[in-house]
Amino acid sequence: MAKKLWGGRFQSETNTAVDDFNSSIHFDKRLYKYDILGSIAHVKMLAKQAIIDKNDAKIIEDELHKILNDIDNGQIEFDISAEDIHMNIETILTSRIGEVGKKLHTARSRNDQVALDFRMYCKDAIKNIQELIFELLETLIKTATNHTDTIMPGFTHLQHAQPITLAHHLMAYFEMFKRDFERLEDCYKRTNILPLGSCALAGTTYPLDREFVAKELGFDNITLNSLDGVSDRDFAIELLNDTSIIMTHLSRFCEEIILWCSQEYSYIELDDAFSTGSSIMPQKKNPDIAELIRGKTGRVFGNLMGLLTTMKGLPLAYNKDMQEDKEAVFSAIDTTEACLSIFNDMLKTTKFNSQAMKKSAQKGFINATDAADYLVKKGIPFRETHRISGEIVFYAIKNNKILEELSLKEFKQFSDLFEEDIFKEISLETCIEKRKVIGSPSKSAMTQVIELNKGWMNDTKFKR
Ligand code: ARG
Repeated sequence: MAKKLWGGRFQSETNTAVDDFNSSIHFDKRLYKYDILGSIAHVKMLAKQAIIDKNDAKIIEDELHKILNDIDNGQIEFDISAEDIHMNIETILTSRIGEVGKKLHTARSRNDQVALDFRMYCKDAIKNIQELIFELLETLIKTATNHTDTIMPGFTHLQHAQPITLAHHLMAYFEMFKRDFERLEDCYKRTNILPLGSCALAGTTYPLDREFVAKELGFDNITLNSLDGVSDRDFAIELLNDTSIIMTHLSRFCEEIILWCSQEYSYIELDDAFSTGSSIMPQKKNPDIAELIRGKTGRVFGNLMGLLTTMKGLPLAYNKDMQEDKEAVFSAIDTTEACLSIFNDMLKTTKFNSQAMKKSAQKGFINATDAADYLVKKGIPFRETHRISGEIVFYAIKNNKILEELSLKEFKQFSDLFEEDIFKEISLETCIEKRKVIGSPSKSAMTQVIELNKGWMNDTKFKR
């Protein structure tokens, strides 16, 4: 077995079960690209600052490029006894170029190295997720544009409340995912800070140029306290929080999709490509994909709770507990990316049944507020008209009718002020059209909001 990179102080080998337990290479190998790019920037800076010889630095840099290429091409097998990705790469480097490879780790510790790699990984992950959210926003705004006239019931307590349009409903999700996008933008700012140069915990005696490394690696700033630089995982917790909120939004949407494709609602039909059958019941077309996304929310929340719990009792600075950060974040990122992508494809192929939505909106006295508002316009206080409209609803239920089916005579039993125009006033189209205030479902208000959001999308012009 190869001698450990830190083996100088030790007289005997570690227990093999300990090697297995302690090692993180089976998951942190995912960081190899960031580890190598970080090392290249570090070694360039060491040469620039005359901390190591320029020729040595060149040899190290060239070999690191080759190793990166070899790993990309699947030509490298990692070694569990080299513990993690950082020591694996250093071991490979030294095995290839000899003694000079051992100069790479000057003025650096794995503690600031792993903090750097992990931040670089999270930066890319944030951009990927933002891109997926942006694609979903495009689908939502496109679909909403086609459905500004599609009437459906709006619900509270899952009871029919007031009429809205499908565009209005979809654009509610647009607002949620837009916030998710912006939340990630904010998380990116705090992730984009270079911790390298913190070394083990107390900085270093070498004359490092941290600004140079930050620039090389595309970081906006450098951390200002070396203890914090190696022990901060707030950026990872924030990212887990942000992915948890994204999953909450996807899960709520999936819940509605599951309801909407049930026989009871029949508002939508999922494409066959996004549904599954039953092994026993031939008639079944199940919304498994929506259910699975809703289910996977638990995994992402678990990762957030897991990392918060891991971090909560740690004294400064680095502790090995923190090695647990990576699997939590990797799992949350993989899950969120997969869910966003498949959800968007499912939504794009979903057929909306406008007839069924409208029919459903006609039930449930969804226009009772508008009947009350009709009398308000004739001078009766709203509290009073609310009572009158409630009594009309009760009467209609008893007579097995909806409000539109009552005669003017029947309306007049509750107030003389009702005239023929009440029927137009409580038609679903009028109920929606009258809601013109910005944020409401009328076509004019929706068109305005859609334009505003198109403007936001243009200004944001998603860039990698
Ligand atoms: N594999 C370790 C981690 O992920 C790297 C840092 C190890 N540092 C140490 N002092 N043991 O956290």
